[in-house]
Amino acid sequence: MKEKLIRYADKLHLPRGKTIVITGGNSGIGFSVAKHLIRYGYRVILAVRNRSRGEKAKEELLLENPDAHIEVWDLELSNFESIRAFVNRIQQEHLDIDCFYSNAGVYRIPFALGELDIEMTLLTNYVSNLYLYLLLKEYLLQLGHPVKFILTSSMVARFAHMDVSDFDGHDYQKMKFYKKSKVAVNQLYRFMVEDSKGTNLLPLLVHPGSTYTPLIAKAYPNRALMITAQRFMRVFFHSPDKAALCTLALLSEEVCSPTFMAPRGIFHVSGYPKKIKLYQGNLTKYKETIAYTKDMISEYLR
Ligand SMILES: NC(=O)c1ccc[n+]([C@@H]2O[C@H](COP(=O)([O-])OP(=O)(O)OC[C@H]3O[C@@H](n4cnc5c(N)ncnc54)[C@H](OP(=O)(O)O)[C@@H]3O)[C@@H](O)[C@H]2O)c1
Repeated sequence: MKEKLIRYADKLHLPRGKTIVITGGNSGIGFSVAKHLIRYGYRVILAVRNRSRGEKAKEELLLENPDAHIEVWDLELSNFESIRAFVNRIQQEHLDIDCFYSNAGVYRIPFALGELDIEMTLLTNYVSNLYLYLLLKEYLLQLGHPVKFILTSSMVARFAHMDVSDFDGHDYQKMKFYKKSKVAVNQLYRFMVEDSKGTNLLPLLVHPGSTYTPLIAKAYPNRALMITAQRFMRVFFHSPDKAALCTLALLSEEVCSPTFMAPRGIFHVSGYPKKIKLYQGNLTKYKETIAYTKDMISEYLR
C-alpha cells in the first residue's frame, strides 16, 4: 500500500480493536478496506459467497499482517436462506459488531431472475440489504453500543429512477438496472436513517469513487471494450486502496449518522474523502419502495 494513503488513514484516528463485517470483503474495495483496518487491530469478518476466494483473501491479508484477526464467513446475498443462516450465526456466536459494511454488489450482469422472481441486480444490491437489516436490527439494537451500518451507493444513482414495477426486470438493460439498484440503496439508507433515529444504530452511506476492480473487469466481456475500459479506469480513476479511504473516514469516531462520504474530486470519481449531500430528487417514493419490498419478502421475515 502506498505510504501517503497510510499516512492519510493514520490521520483519521480510527478507534482501535473494533469488529467489522465486510460483505464481499474478498475483493476490490472491500478487500482494501480490510487491508487498511487490520493495521488498526480490527477483527475483520469477510462475508463471502465463495469460500476459496475468501480464504485466499484471508491468506493475502495475513501476509500483510500475520497477527491480524480475520475470519471467513459464508454469505450468498442472492439467497434468502444463506442470509438467514448468516444472521443466525452472528446471533449464536454473539458477534459484537461495531460496523456492518454492506459493500458487496454486482454491476452490468446478464439478465436473470432470482428469489421471488426479482431481477438479480436489484436482488443482490438492494433487496438483500433490506433483508439483512430487518433480520439484524433487533440484535444490533441490543448490543447497546454504537453500531455503524454502511451502505454502498454510487454516483450513477443520480441519473435514474426506481419504481416498484421494476422488480421483475422488464425492459432490462444492464446499466439502467445497476443505476436503479443504487437508487434503491439510497432509498433504503433514507429509510434506515428514519427507522433507527435515537438508537445506537448509525446508518451511513459511501460512494467509493470510480475504481478499477473485478466488478468493472467482469462487466465488459467484449475484449476491445474491456481493454478500453481498463485503460480509461486505470488512467483517470483511483485505486481500491484510495477508494477505501471513503469508508475509513466514516469509521472515524466524530462521524455520526446521517453522513454520505464520497471522493472530493470532479464528479466525485476520485480523490480523498469528503462529506457530500445526497441527491434527493429520486428518493421521494422511498416509503413506497420499502413498504413494497417488505411485503414481497414478508414470508421470509417470520
Ligand atoms: N468499482 C467502482 O468503480 C465502484 C463505483 C461505485 C460503487 N461501487 C460499489 O462498490 C462495491 C464494491 O465493488 P468493487 O468495485 O470492489 O467490486 P468487486 O471487486 O467485484 O467486489 C464485489 C464483491 O461483492 C461480492 N458479491 C457479488 N455478488 C454477491 C452475492 N450474490 N453474494 C455475496 N457476495 C457477492 C463479490 O464476490 P465474488 O468475488 O465472489 O464475485 C465481491 O467480493 C459495490 O457495491 C459497487 O457497486 C464500485
